[in-house]
Amino acid sequence: MIQYHEFETAFEKLLQTPETTYPHAVEYHRTNFQHSIQYLLSSILNQTETLVQQSQTDWENTEEVISDILYCADVNMQQLFSLEIPNQLTTDRDFEDVKTKLYETKYYPISEHLNYIFLPPALERKRFIRKHLGCLADMGHFCDLGFGPGVLSAFILQQKELWTGCGVDISGHCLHHAERLLRKRKVLERCELSVGDVRTLPYSDEAFDLVVAVEVLEHIPDPEVGLTEAVRVLKSGGYAITALPVKLPILMHLYDFDSPDEVLELYKKVGLQVVDFETKEFQRQTEPFTDTFALSIKP
Ligand SMILES: C[S@@+](CC[C@H](N)C(=O)[O-])C[C@H]1O[C@@H](n2cnc3c(N)ncnc32)[C@H](O)[C@@H]1O
Repeated sequence: MIQYHEFETAFEKLLQTPETTYPHAVEYHRTNFQHSIQYLLSSILNQTETLVQQSQTDWENTEEVISDILYCADVNMQQLFSLEIPNQLTTDRDFEDVKTKLYETKYYPISEHLNYIFLPPALERKRFIRKHLGCLADMGHFCDLGFGPGVLSAFILQQKELWTGCGVDISGHCLHHAERLLRKRKVLERCELSVGDVRTLPYSDEAFDLVVAVEVLEHIPDPEVGLTEAVRVLKSGGYAITALPVKLPILMHLYDFDSPDEVLELYKKVGLQVVDFETKEFQRQTEPFTDTFALSIKP
């Protein structure tokens, strides 16, 4: 049976495998997913034994994520393991194609949610948000653009007990999944999620104290359009928390940023003043990629 450290080693090796082995993002995602499932299975089978070997926090997080996923996707373990994994994406990098073949599948929010067990870039997103929640006012209204499985919305609502939220995501499956997560966390009554496009937000100007757009703008062909919308709905003096990958040309990314400077240039162009900018490098296959995390203010 696979132990946690063996899984970690295998996963690290996988991320460093030559690019030719995983030419398509879906293939990468699929492998990632299969390994996650392997991990989940082994973690459940070895629970008692491994609890002795692993730090408590790792296991607390894993169990919570597994139980959340089962509840949010409304599946049992058997259904989870026999879930159909999409592999129909073409190399066209066409928005409608990605939407229908990937986002609109039961698999998608589950796979994004699983990332929060172990995938370093996902954990970094949460850490960056945690870092800045303390400096926000006690009361406020935020918007999560491209909320995916809802992990970040739920996290903000749980940490900021007097805040209310809104959010859009292009995927109906993500909406269903995220709403169930928020209900499980008992924060759904403070948040209104809907299916929508970041390029045409259904909100009035200056509606929010905080806009979150984490790993979403690279999923549209012109990130500037989405970011301009985000700035429109942000109050003057409000904050934007954004995360954008650099040099990560996978199939569902319809725009590739070349450098952190290009990301900074975009923030400047739409009128955001960056107050904290972090870059983190992650090893993936032969090429590393960089994730950028920013806190900005609308003057
Ligand atoms: C990588 S996931 C990030 C999810 C979430 N922000 C997180 O960090 O956990 C990207 C999300 O963007 C959504 N998305 C893609 N294009 C979109 C668009 N044009 N409008 C709204 N959401 C979109 C996808 O459905 C997906 O849920």
